[in-house]
Amino acid sequence: MRNSFGPIGFFDSGVGGTSVWSAVHTLLPNESTIYVADSVHAPYGERSKEEILALSIKNTDFLISKGCKLIVVACNTATTNAIAELREKYNMPFIGIEPAIKPAALQTQTGKVGLLATKGTLGSALFHKTVHENAVGVEIIEQEGTGLVALIEGGFAEGDEVYQLLESYLLPMKEKGIDRLVLGCTHYPFLIPAIKKILPKHIEIIDAAGAVAKQTKNILEKEGLLSVIKASNSVEVLENDGRNHEPKHVFYSNGSTAVLKRFIPALVEVKLLYSSDL
Ligand code: DGL
Repeated sequence: MRNSFGPIGFFDSGVGGTSVWSAVHTLLPNESTIYVADSVHAPYGERSKEEILALSIKNTDFLISKGCKLIVVACNTATTNAIAELREKYNMPFIGIEPAIKPAALQTQTGKVGLLATKGTLGSALFHKTVHENAVGVEIIEQEGTGLVALIEGGFAEGDEVYQLLESYLLPMKEKGIDRLVLGCTHYPFLIPAIKKILPKHIEIIDAAGAVAKQTKNILEKEGLLSVIKASNSVEVLENDGRNHEPKHVFYSNGSTAVLKRFIPALVEVKLLYSSDL
Protein backbone atom coordinates (compact mmCIF):
# COMPACT_ATOMS: atom_id res chain seq x y z
CA MET A 1 0.00 0.00 0.00
CA ARG A 2 1.56 3.30 -1.11
CA ASN A 3 1.34 6.22 1.26
CA SER A 4 2.91 9.67 1.56
CA PHE A 5 5.42 8.44 4.18
CA GLY A 6 6.99 6.00 1.71
CA PRO A 7 10.32 6.95 0.16
CA ILE A 8 10.89 7.97 -3.44
CA GLY A 9 12.92 5.25 -5.17
CA PHE A 10 15.69 5.91 -7.70
CA PHE A 11 17.72 3.55 -9.82
CA ASP A 12 20.55 3.87 -12.27
CA SER A 13 23.24 1.64 -13.72
CA GLY A 14 25.52 3.18 -11.09
CA VAL A 15 26.52 6.50 -9.59
CA GLY A 16 25.20 8.72 -12.43
CA GLY A 17 21.62 8.93 -11.18
CA THR A 18 22.83 10.79 -8.10
CA SER A 19 22.77 13.88 -10.39
CA VAL A 20 19.01 13.37 -10.62
CA TRP A 21 18.72 12.47 -6.94
CA SER A 22 20.35 15.83 -6.02
CA ALA A 23 17.89 17.81 -8.15
CA VAL A 24 14.91 15.98 -6.63
CA HIS A 25 16.25 16.29 -3.08
CA THR A 26 16.85 20.03 -3.55
CA LEU A 27 13.26 20.59 -4.69
CA LEU A 28 11.68 18.10 -2.25
CA PRO A 29 13.84 18.13 0.91
CA ASN A 30 11.04 16.62 3.01
CA GLU A 31 10.96 13.38 1.04
CA SER A 32 12.73 10.21 2.14
CA THR A 33 14.62 8.46 -0.64
CA ILE A 34 16.13 5.11 -1.55
CA TYR A 35 18.75 4.96 -4.29
CA VAL A 36 19.91 1.87 -6.14
CA ALA A 37 23.29 1.94 -7.91
CA ASP A 38 23.47 -1.18 -10.08
CA SER A 39 27.17 -0.61 -10.72
CA VAL A 40 27.97 -4.28 -11.25
CA HIS A 41 25.88 -4.23 -14.43
CA ALA A 42 27.13 -0.88 -15.79
CA PRO A 43 27.29 0.28 -18.46
CA TYR A 44 23.67 -0.32 -19.44
CA GLY A 45 24.31 1.63 -22.63
CA GLU A 46 26.18 -1.28 -24.18
CA ARG A 47 23.42 -3.81 -23.42
CA SER A 48 20.43 -5.02 -25.43
CA LYS A 49 16.91 -3.71 -24.82
CA GLU A 50 15.95 -7.09 -23.29
CA GLU A 51 18.85 -6.96 -20.82
CA ILE A 52 18.11 -3.33 -19.89
CA LEU A 53 14.45 -4.24 -19.28
CA ALA A 54 15.38 -7.26 -17.12
CA LEU A 55 17.77 -5.13 -15.02
CA SER A 56 15.15 -2.37 -14.70
CA ILE A 57 12.59 -4.91 -13.44
CA LYS A 58 15.10 -6.27 -10.92
CA ASN A 59 15.83 -2.74 -9.62
CA THR A 60 12.12 -1.88 -9.49
CA ASP A 61 11.30 -5.05 -7.52
CA PHE A 62 14.05 -4.17 -5.03
CA LEU A 63 12.71 -0.61 -4.57
CA ILE A 64 9.11 -1.82 -4.23
CA SER A 65 10.24 -4.34 -1.58
CA LYS A 66 11.56 -1.31 0.38
CA GLY A 67 8.13 0.40 0.26
CA CYS A 68 8.75 3.08 -2.38
CA LYS A 69 5.73 5.17 -3.39
CA LEU A 70 7.11 6.40 -6.73
CA ILE A 71 10.13 5.42 -8.80
CA VAL A 72 12.45 7.78 -10.63
CA VAL A 73 14.24 5.95 -13.41
CA ALA A 74 17.39 8.05 -13.04
CA CYS A 75 18.93 6.69 -16.22
CA ASN A 76 18.28 7.78 -19.81
CA THR A 77 19.20 4.35 -21.14
CA ALA A 78 16.71 2.54 -18.88
CA THR A 79 14.01 5.16 -19.50
CA THR A 80 14.27 5.05 -23.28
CA ASN A 81 14.43 1.23 -23.37
CA ALA A 82 12.16 0.13 -20.54
CA ILE A 83 9.84 2.74 -19.03
CA ALA A 84 6.82 1.84 -21.20
CA GLU A 85 7.08 -1.81 -20.10
CA LEU A 86 7.59 -0.83 -16.44
CA ARG A 87 4.47 1.35 -16.50
CA GLU A 88 2.52 -1.52 -17.96
CA LYS A 89 3.81 -4.10 -15.47
CA TYR A 90 3.52 -2.17 -12.19
CA ASN A 91 0.73 -0.19 -10.57
CA MET A 92 3.15 2.54 -9.58
CA PRO A 93 4.03 6.03 -10.82
CA PHE A 94 7.33 6.13 -12.76
CA ILE A 95 9.20 9.30 -13.70
CA GLY A 96 11.85 8.91 -16.38
CA ILE A 97 14.66 11.00 -17.77
CA GLU A 98 15.25 11.52 -21.48
CA PRO A 99 17.71 13.72 -23.38
CA ALA A 100 16.34 17.30 -23.28
CA ILE A 101 15.99 17.59 -27.07
CA LYS A 102 12.83 19.71 -26.96
CA PRO A 103 14.16 22.72 -25.00
CA ALA A 104 17.46 22.58 -26.89
CA ALA A 105 15.64 22.58 -30.26
CA LEU A 106 13.47 25.51 -29.14
CA GLN A 107 16.43 27.56 -27.89
CA THR A 108 19.11 26.98 -30.53
CA GLN A 109 20.05 29.98 -32.67
CA THR A 110 22.38 28.10 -35.01
CA GLY A 111 19.92 25.25 -35.64
CA LYS A 112 22.57 22.79 -34.50
CA VAL A 113 22.40 20.87 -31.24
CA GLY A 114 25.01 18.43 -29.94
CA LEU A 115 23.91 15.36 -28.03
CA LEU A 116 26.15 13.11 -25.98
CA ALA A 117 24.39 9.90 -24.90
CA THR A 118 24.85 6.15 -24.67
CA LYS A 119 24.53 3.73 -27.56
CA GLY A 120 21.44 2.26 -25.86
CA THR A 121 19.68 5.64 -25.72
CA LEU A 122 20.62 6.71 -29.24
CA GLY A 123 19.41 3.38 -30.63
CA SER A 124 16.05 3.36 -28.81
CA ALA A 125 12.68 3.82 -30.47
CA LEU A 126 11.57 6.34 -27.81
CA PHE A 127 14.56 8.57 -28.52
CA HIS A 128 13.88 8.50 -32.27
CA LYS A 129 10.26 9.42 -31.63
CA THR A 130 11.34 12.37 -29.44
CA VAL A 131 13.67 13.71 -32.12
CA HIS A 132 11.09 13.23 -34.83
CA GLU A 133 8.42 15.10 -32.86
CA ASN A 134 10.49 17.86 -31.26
CA ALA A 135 13.44 18.74 -33.45
CA VAL A 136 11.90 19.54 -36.83
CA GLY A 137 14.33 21.66 -38.84
CA VAL A 138 17.10 21.32 -36.24
CA GLU A 139 20.22 19.27 -36.86
CA ILE A 140 20.97 16.97 -33.94
CA ILE A 141 24.62 15.95 -33.93
CA GLU A 142 24.62 12.67 -32.03
CA GLN A 143 27.68 11.21 -30.35
CA GLU A 144 27.97 8.02 -28.31
CA GLY A 145 29.91 8.67 -25.13
CA THR A 146 31.69 5.30 -25.28
CA GLY A 147 34.02 4.80 -22.31
CA LEU A 148 32.81 7.76 -20.23
CA VAL A 149 30.47 5.82 -17.93
CA ALA A 150 33.19 3.25 -17.16
CA LEU A 151 35.60 6.03 -16.19
CA ILE A 152 33.04 7.72 -13.93
CA GLU A 153 32.12 4.39 -12.33
CA GLY A 154 35.83 4.03 -11.60
CA GLY A 155 35.65 7.37 -9.77
CA PHE A 156 37.22 9.47 -12.52
CA ALA A 157 35.31 12.57 -13.63
CA GLU A 158 38.50 14.46 -14.43
CA GLY A 159 42.02 13.64 -15.57
CA ASP A 160 43.80 13.11 -18.90
CA GLU A 161 41.82 10.10 -20.07
CA VAL A 162 38.45 11.78 -19.46
CA TYR A 163 39.65 15.01 -21.04
CA GLN A 164 41.02 13.32 -24.18
CA LEU A 165 37.87 11.25 -24.73
CA LEU A 166 35.68 14.32 -24.27
CA GLU A 167 37.79 16.35 -26.70
CA SER A 168 37.43 13.66 -29.35
CA TYR A 169 33.64 13.70 -28.90
CA LEU A 170 33.02 17.43 -28.49
CA LEU A 171 35.44 19.24 -30.77
CA PRO A 172 33.80 17.91 -33.98
CA MET A 173 30.43 19.21 -32.67
CA LYS A 174 31.97 22.59 -31.97
CA GLU A 175 33.39 22.67 -35.52
CA LYS A 176 29.90 21.99 -36.87
CA GLY A 177 28.56 25.07 -35.07
CA ILE A 178 26.44 23.75 -32.21
CA ASP A 179 25.26 26.30 -29.63
CA ARG A 180 23.59 23.78 -27.29
CA LEU A 181 25.00 20.53 -25.88
CA VAL A 182 22.46 18.10 -24.42
CA LEU A 183 23.79 15.71 -21.79
CA GLY A 184 21.80 12.55 -22.51
CA CYS A 185 23.18 10.38 -19.72
CA THR A 186 22.86 11.00 -15.99
CA HIS A 187 26.55 10.25 -15.47
CA TYR A 188 27.62 13.17 -17.67
CA PRO A 189 26.73 16.18 -15.44
CA PHE A 190 29.77 15.16 -13.38
CA LEU A 191 31.88 15.91 -16.46
CA ILE A 192 30.68 19.54 -16.72
CA PRO A 193 33.91 21.03 -15.27
CA ALA A 194 35.93 19.13 -17.91
CA ILE A 195 33.41 19.96 -20.69
CA LYS A 196 33.66 23.66 -19.82
CA LYS A 197 37.41 23.54 -20.38
CA ILE A 198 36.82 22.21 -23.90
CA LEU A 199 33.80 24.12 -25.20
CA PRO A 200 33.50 27.91 -25.49
CA LYS A 201 31.15 29.69 -23.09
CA HIS A 202 28.43 30.44 -25.66
CA ILE A 203 27.63 26.73 -26.00
CA GLU A 204 25.00 26.08 -23.37
CA ILE A 205 25.01 22.73 -21.57
CA ILE A 206 21.53 21.28 -21.03
CA ASP A 207 20.64 18.55 -18.56
CA ALA A 208 17.12 17.30 -17.77
CA ALA A 209 17.52 16.68 -14.01
CA GLY A 210 15.69 19.90 -13.02
CA ALA A 211 12.72 19.00 -15.22
CA VAL A 212 12.62 15.52 -13.66
CA ALA A 213 12.49 17.05 -10.17
CA LYS A 214 9.55 19.30 -11.15
CA GLN A 215 7.71 16.40 -12.73
CA THR A 216 8.28 14.27 -9.61
CA LYS A 217 6.73 17.02 -7.48
CA ASN A 218 3.76 17.38 -9.86
CA ILE A 219 2.99 13.67 -9.87
CA LEU A 220 3.33 13.32 -6.09
CA GLU A 221 0.95 16.24 -5.67
CA LYS A 222 -1.51 14.84 -8.17
CA GLU A 223 -1.48 11.40 -6.53
CA GLY A 224 -1.77 12.83 -3.01
CA LEU A 225 1.62 11.34 -2.14
CA LEU A 226 3.67 14.40 -1.19
CA SER A 227 5.33 13.95 2.17
CA VAL A 228 4.11 16.06 5.05
CA ILE A 229 7.38 15.38 6.85
CA LYS A 230 9.43 18.46 7.61
CA ALA A 231 13.19 18.34 7.33
CA SER A 232 14.91 19.15 10.60
CA ASN A 233 16.30 22.44 9.32
CA SER A 234 12.79 23.77 8.78
CA VAL A 235 11.12 25.66 11.60
CA GLU A 236 8.28 23.28 12.12
CA VAL A 237 8.60 19.54 12.62
CA LEU A 238 5.27 17.86 12.07
CA GLU A 239 4.51 14.87 14.22
CA ASN A 240 2.24 12.34 12.62
CA ASP A 241 0.99 9.36 14.60
CA GLY A 242 2.98 10.67 17.56
CA ARG A 243 6.39 10.01 15.98
CA ASN A 244 8.88 12.40 14.57
CA HIS A 245 9.36 11.44 10.93
CA GLU A 246 12.68 12.78 9.71
CA PRO A 247 13.37 12.25 6.01
CA LYS A 248 15.85 9.39 5.56
CA HIS A 249 18.13 8.64 2.64
CA VAL A 250 19.47 5.17 1.98
CA PHE A 251 21.85 4.42 -0.91
CA TYR A 252 22.41 0.81 -1.98
CA SER A 253 25.19 -0.29 -4.29
CA ASN A 254 26.24 -3.70 -5.55
CA GLY A 255 29.61 -2.17 -6.45
CA SER A 256 31.88 0.24 -4.63
CA THR A 257 30.12 2.21 -1.89
CA ALA A 258 33.30 4.29 -1.57
CA VAL A 259 32.96 5.53 -5.16
CA LEU A 260 29.22 6.10 -4.74
CA LYS A 261 29.87 8.21 -1.64
CA ARG A 262 31.96 10.66 -3.69
CA PHE A 263 28.92 11.50 -5.83
CA ILE A 264 26.53 12.25 -2.97
CA PRO A 265 26.45 15.85 -1.70
CA ALA A 266 28.59 15.94 1.45
CA LEU A 267 26.09 17.91 3.53
CA VAL A 268 23.30 15.39 3.30
CA GLU A 269 23.17 12.68 5.91
CA VAL A 270 22.78 9.35 4.14
CA LYS A 271 23.13 5.67 4.92
CA LEU A 272 25.33 3.80 2.43
CA LEU A 273 24.86 0.05 2.15
CA TYR A 274 26.44 -2.63 0.02
CA SER A 275 23.86 -5.11 -1.24
CA SER A 276 24.47 -8.36 -3.08
CA ASP A 277 20.69 -8.73 -3.57
CA LEU A 278 20.75 -6.31 -6.48
N1 DGL B 1 23.38 6.79 -16.42
C1 DGL B 1 22.82 6.11 -17.50
C2 DGL B 1 22.10 6.96 -18.49
O1 DGL B 1 21.57 7.97 -18.11
C3 DGL B 1 23.39 4.83 -17.99
C4 DGL B 1 24.78 4.83 -18.43
C5 DGL B 1 25.22 3.41 -18.72
O2 DGL B 1 25.18 2.60 -17.81
O3 DGL B 1 25.58 3.17 -19.87
O4 DGL B 1 22.00 6.64 -19.65
